[in-house]
Amino acid sequence: MFSSWSRTLLTTLLTSCALARLVQAKSVPQQLQKRAQCAATLTVAEGVANVMQSTYWDSFLGEYSGGSLWTDANALEDLHNLMLGADINTWSSVADDSYIGRLASLELSSGEWEILLDGSNDDAQWVILALWKIADYKTARGDNADAYLNAAASIYDYVTTQWDDTCGGGVWWSTAKTYKNAITNELFLYTSADGYLRGGGQTYLDNANNVWNWLYNSGMRNSQGLFNDGLVQGTCVNNGETTWIYNQGVIASGLAALYAAGGSSNTTLLNQAEITLDATISLLTEDDILKESCDDAAAGGTTCDSDQQIFKGIWTKHVQYYLDMANDATRTAKYSPFLGSQESAVFHYGTDSADVVGSVWYAPNQGGSIFSPMSTTSGLEAHIAAAKYGPC
Ligand SMILES: *[C@@H]1O[C@H](CO)[C@@H](O)[C@H](O)[C@H]1NC(C)=O
Repeated sequence: MFSSWSRTLLTTLLTSCALARLVQAKSVPQQLQKRAQCAATLTVAEGVANVMQSTYWDSFLGEYSGGSLWTDANALEDLHNLMLGADINTWSSVADDSYIGRLASLELSSGEWEILLDGSNDDAQWVILALWKIADYKTARGDNADAYLNAAASIYDYVTTQWDDTCGGGVWWSTAKTYKNAITNELFLYTSADGYLRGGGQTYLDNANNVWNWLYNSGMRNSQGLFNDGLVQGTCVNNGETTWIYNQGVIASGLAALYAAGGSSNTTLLNQAEITLDATISLLTEDDILKESCDDAAAGGTTCDSDQQIFKGIWTKHVQYYLDMANDATRTAKYSPFLGSQESAVFHYGTDSADVVGSVWYAPNQGGSIFSPMSTTSGLEAHIAAAKYGPC
């Protein structure tokens, strides 16, 4: 039985918790506010997510069967992006069950994260994005997200140590320091600018400006407006390697986050992003549908590896984030039909009778589409982005 003293204390605690939640709810960043969503598309997305969980999720190990750490990070981000968009809680236990969530609960140091992430500076940042989206979800539900936010901050701190002057700047792809490439630095632009918007402080904003200046002058974007994979070691020139589709989307979310971080005044940053988005639409498509160079609907042709199977969806997800931060009706209207077309192709061409989504979107599967957790969450991303910004 409580004494009157402890009952007063309990009431005070409960009241201050309730107050803390109110304050938390009010401080949700502007880009996370709920917008109109297309209910029919969300329903399709929920169906795909349910199939993804029942087909691939291993709750004992906390990972997707056939996945990898960085693709799992994206899938976890997608589930939480969907729960926020649809205002549902279907997979609310997945984060804490996940390998990434279990690591987050250990409150590891930067150095411990560096070891666990195997020195992979791009994987590290995909994990940051998953941790942040999970934290957004938990915060929106009034739950404590500190472990996730602290883990993201620790990982970010380790990534900042991977910047040096070789090739004039940039973060190395891995701690082996043999390659400077586009994706690691595009992610660094996004994690830095978004981290600043999340209250990370001036260092984050300085890093975002520095990495954009470096990317812009690096020569990694070719004359067509597309980012090649990376730089030649030693000479630091564009290596002319594949213009993977995810590289053409993550740059846009990063630039829009930098635009928002600068008070939404410098539209040059958005126009720079759209050079690459528009080049993607005109050059990396077939009949207006995204087609990775390794995609082949026919059996026996080229095939995408397990990383490449997720790239197209990442592009759609980061276009969603681009439009979130650009917060501009004209720019939304410009990309809305294309997002709708991708979603339709995923639904009509990409999805099998069990509702698993395959890797090929541009044509009906004739045996060449690959069905995996990566291709499924990639399709899921197309549905989620279209639910928010496609036609309805
Ligand atoms: C806007 O961004 C561009 C591209 O990074 C930059 O060159 C320019 O100096 C910026 N303008 C202002 C007013 O900050």
